[in-house]
Amino acid sequence: MIVEQAQQIRAVDQAEKLRLMARQVRTGAKKTARVLAVTSGKGGVGKTNVAANLAICLSAAGKDVILFDADLGLANLDVLLPVKIRFNLAHVIAGKRRLAEIVQPGPGGIRLVCGASGITQMADLTEVQRQRLAQEMTQLEYKADVIVIDTGAGISRNVLGFCQSADHTLVVTTTEPTSITDAYAVIKALNQGTERLKISLLTNMVENRDQAQKVYQRLAFAGERFLNCAIYDAGYVLRDNHLSQAVHQRKPVVLAFPRCPASYCFVALAQKLIRAGKKEPAGAGFFRKVINWFF
Ligand SMILES: Nc1ncnc2c1ncn2[C@@H]1O[C@H](COP(=O)(O)OP(=O)(O)OP(=O)(O)O)[C@@H](O)[C@H]1O
Ligand SMILES: [Mg+2]
Repeated sequence: MIVEQAQQIRAVDQAEKLRLMARQVRTGAKKTARVLAVTSGKGGVGKTNVAANLAICLSAAGKDVILFDADLGLANLDVLLPVKIRFNLAHVIAGKRRLAEIVQPGPGGIRLVCGASGITQMADLTEVQRQRLAQEMTQLEYKADVIVIDTGAGISRNVLGFCQSADHTLVVTTTEPTSITDAYAVIKALNQGTERLKISLLTNMVENRDQAQKVYQRLAFAGERFLNCAIYDAGYVLRDNHLSQAVHQRKPVVLAFPRCPASYCFVALAQKLIRAGKKEPAGAGFFRKVINWFF
């Protein structure tokens, strides 16, 4: 009993230390990365492609970018990209490697952290493992300009946790009604936390700009009306067969077909993010402030 209580006190102490560290990182004098989480309600809507291609475009524009595969259930960045993985998050969670040690070079000048497979819930991790991961992630913030997090789909605690710790969450949807409904469910779940999150919507696989606008207006209206939540417009990515061809080649489309319609959409999205960052006064958060542009 006493041992149990002592363990609980130690866990609370440790959590408080981590919170303090995170606050210091966010408010502190050191340069810290802006963190963008890419998520969706429905699976298969293009999150991983968005995260990877956006990361590469940001890197091409001179940013130091880490792409973080936070899917602990079905990690798939390493399937999409031409990389050979030696270590992944599972090694960090097991305490066999530090997070900094598993960061590896990826295509287009980005660096990668590969996810684990088979750990379906953060709840499956022990307190010690969860805290180890949180602590390691806080350290990573010192090591890049931008961290793009590719999450799993849905509203599991893992996914929400990653989005809630990011500066900005990009919710990806397609024009399909099921995907839009599920995007709304994610936005609703994200909104139930105590902190007000910055959420933007990106509509993928659209035929034209009008289609994307309709989806955005529908969700922005519902968000405002029922959740009292502003959803910002991150724009769209056109449906483009080059993208699936690139997936078959295990290459990001912006590198395989840099002049195809989808690639232009990714370049435009990255440029907007960077332009918005430049307009902000020094010290202002890059992704936290980027919503000013989106609006
Ligand atoms: N803009 C697009 N144009 C054409 N096809 C696309 C586009 N975006 C995604 N796809 C197709 O959708 C597939 C799934 O994309 P992706 O793996 O990025 O989705 P995901 O949301 O990460 O899936 P999961 O939920 O399983 O992680 C791609 O392999 C590709 O075939
Ligand atoms: Mg994915």
